[in-house]
This record gives sequence, C-alpha cells and structure tokens, in this order.
Amino acid sequence: EHPKLLFLAGSARQGSFNRKLAKLAAGLAEGEGANVTLLELADYPLPIYNGDLEEEQGIPKPARELKKKFIDCDGFFIASPEYNSSIPPLLKNTLDWLSRKESADEPPLAAYKGKVAALSAASPGGNGGLRGLVPLRMMLGNIGVHLIPQQLAVAGAGDAFDDDGRLKSDQQLQTLTGIMRELVRVSRQLRD
Ligand code: FNR
Repeated sequence: EHPKLLFLAGSARQGSFNRKLAKLAAGLAEGEGANVTLLELADYPLPIYNGDLEEEQGIPKPARELKKKFIDCDGFFIASPEYNSSIPPLLKNTLDWLSRKESADEPPLAAYKGKVAALSAASPGGNGGLRGLVPLRMMLGNIGVHLIPQQLAVAGAGDAFDDDGRLKSDQQLQTLTGIMRELVRVSRQLRD
C-alpha cells in the first residue's frame, strides 16, 4: 500500500510561494509512489490558542478535522515562510491546536508521534527562509516527529518558478525530488 502523506504551506496568501513549493512537492511524491493530500490551512480557520477558550468550548471543529488527517497519515511535508527568522503564527497556531488532547484516554501528541516530516521554505529574500526551518525542525522533533535531514530553501522565490509551477533550477528540482524520495522511503519504513 502507498504511504499517506500530507502537504501543506505555512501561508494562506493567494500568491504564496510556499504553496507553489508544497504543490510541486506533492506531485513529486506522488511520482515516488505516495498517496498525497494537499491541504490549505485557510480551510481550517482557528482562533489563536487560549486555554480558557479550550476549557469552555473544547477543541474547535477545524482543529479536530485536521488532527484526524494527521493521525491517519504516515508523514507530512511543510513548506513554510520565515517570519523574522521563525515560524509564522498561522502555522504555529495550527500545529499547537493539533497537539491538544480531545479526551483523557487519547495518547499524547497522537497527531505527531511516529510520523515523518520533510521541510522546505521559499522566500523572495536571499536565504530562502532557511532560518525559519531551524525552530520548526526543533519544535517538530520535540513533539515526536522524525525529520528528514535534507531540506530545500528557495531564495529569490519571485523568479524561481515557471508558469507550470516547476522550479526553474534543475538542481533545486533534483534536491526536492531527493527529499520526496526520502520522505516516501522513511514513511513506508515507519508504517511497516
Ligand atoms: C516576512 N518575510 C521574511 N522573509 C525572509 O526571508 N526572512 C524573514 O525573516 C522574513 N520576515 C517576515 C516577517 C513578516 C511578518 C512577514 C509578513 C514577512 C517575507 C516573506 O518571506 C514573504 O512575505 C514570503 O512571500 C512569504 O511566503 P509566501 O506567503 O509567499 O508563502
């Protein structure tokens, strides 16, 4: 059976470069034999986490729905912008909500533990959002996710993609393909 992988961008912006990257990665992973689902964080609107809100109203429905997809997957890919060298609040807030238990008998961090993730970034700037992947990688590792060591940061993102959404640089495309191959391979291994 094909490993189930989720693809998401840490940006809800219409013209998001990171969405382009996530879409491209999903196509490449499909080519490597994965069953892929491209997700839009904007489809799962969530309030900024607040413990009082959780206590009074429970986990919001969009968080429960998205969490179920994470529990059901073998691994995921995140293409994320770097905001001031760190994780954008949309992505962090979503990942935080998914870390919460819905009931006392649920195992902790069910959305994350034993999953594998690969990370990439895109930015109009010169470092391609590379610095933001440091805290993202650290956080995911701390909550039980296995991380693929290789990552791609696409600098000058405004000029990096062609009209079909492919990376113009062969080297970058090869790197991303290699990352997807690893993600598929490890997700298969972890599942079996
Ligand atoms: C940015 N951006 C940015 N870029 C970067 O390379 N390093 C950085 O530290 C930051 N910091 C930052 C902070 C905030 C608050 C914003 C709104 C933006 C620019 C960012 O990379 C750019 O907006 C990307 O286009 C965002 O990714 P998407 O939406 O294209 O996927």
